[in-house]
Amino acid sequence: MNTPVIGEGAIQVRVPLPDDSANFPPSSTAVFYNPEMELNRDITVAAISGFIARTGVEPASISYADVMSASGIRGIRMAKEVGLKCHLNDWNQDAYELMRENIKLNGLEESCTPSNQNANTLMHQEQFDIVDLDPFGSPAPFLDAAARSARRLLCITATDTAPLCGAHLKSGIRKYAAVPLNTEYHREMGARILLGATARELARRDKGMNVLLTHVTRHYVRVYLEIIRGVSRADSTMEKLGFIAHCFHCGFRSWEYGLTPESTPKPRSASLSVCPNCGKSLKFAGPLWLGTIQEQDFCSMVLDELKHRKSGKCKDAVKIIEFCKDEIDIPTYYDQHWLCKQNKISAGPIDELVEVLTSAGFNASRTHFAGTGFKTDADLDNINKLLHQLDVQRKNHR
Ligand SMILES: C[S@@+](CC[C@H](N)C(=O)[O-])C[C@H]1O[C@@H](n2cnc3c(N)ncnc32)[C@H](O)[C@@H]1O
Ligand SMILES: [Zn+2]
Repeated sequence: MNTPVIGEGAIQVRVPLPDDSANFPPSSTAVFYNPEMELNRDITVAAISGFIARTGVEPASISYADVMSASGIRGIRMAKEVGLKCHLNDWNQDAYELMRENIKLNGLEESCTPSNQNANTLMHQEQFDIVDLDPFGSPAPFLDAAARSARRLLCITATDTAPLCGAHLKSGIRKYAAVPLNTEYHREMGARILLGATARELARRDKGMNVLLTHVTRHYVRVYLEIIRGVSRADSTMEKLGFIAHCFHCGFRSWEYGLTPESTPKPRSASLSVCPNCGKSLKFAGPLWLGTIQEQDFCSMVLDELKHRKSGKCKDAVKIIEFCKDEIDIPTYYDQHWLCKQNKISAGPIDELVEVLTSAGFNASRTHFAGTGFKTDADLDNINKLLHQLDVQRKNHR
């Protein structure tokens, strides 16, 4: 094992790398370091910088805690590139030593405080304006303390996508006290299960949340939540929880706000057990977050920051956030290939489908969740009709 100095963003850090291999599992080294997460960190720098510009507060008076810092790379970038007062913590002794060395290497002893304790203890003891949760796997064991500690912004990474998305159903139910379903929009399902669980933790502390940005990239979910104190905001946040009814046979889906089947004035799908489209039985996911997951103005600010900063993974990051910004506000997306397979027709370019839906008077967009995915307020009947029309047009053009 050697610890070379590498550059990322505007900083240099010593990181652990195995002697002989370029491809190594990040958890195999004494201190965790994952070069693949540079994209995640580039977006974090841009998002937090945009968030602070919006508050109008001097960055040096904003406290940021990366409560699971490993080498310290994320927090050190926040101190150097955004100018925040940073707290770096890890319960691993080797990580603690390395982060201290890295703080020194960047001359940031004034703005970075290292610590070596359990993240939950730290978050129960201290409040920070911004809390960043970046665990191995599930953030579930840390949500309670994070909800207590975060004053203005809570950023969460979750790499336990199988439980969140419904692929490991029982594990998802245990961790998030919600039922996920492994649908063709499972990536969005995972994000909404995480957001629902976080909203409940915040509400217990009389806090509400605005979801500013959500992205699911490769193997992880990442969310940025603006925290708003007060019981009325906590109540309105809880009102954004609900259930999704899904038909695995035809792809029909519908959603209901509320935590009980009777809690909405006019229950539609929640009172149904059969699909109104094909008559097969419906399955239910939830409780999960049905509110907005992308704030357009916030995404524009993140894009400006990314373009201006031009950090290492800027191009990829811009692509993701542009998709996020343009996504319409609907809790699920369809997969064109899945629908075409059901209809026994061939799929065309996704942009063409979105254009046809829009020309027919529906709201529609692509989605960052999947290259073959699209969001629309058109019902399944209309979507299928338009898919058939496009298929006929393509055949006539051959
Ligand atoms: C995914 S890594 C963090 C990566 C880092 N934030 C980055 O951007 O490179 C997770 C870290 O959490 C630490 N950790 C796990 N459980 C912890 C706990 N309960 N308290 C404090 N640190 C913990 C591990 O030692 C590991 O270094
Ligand atoms: Zn159906």
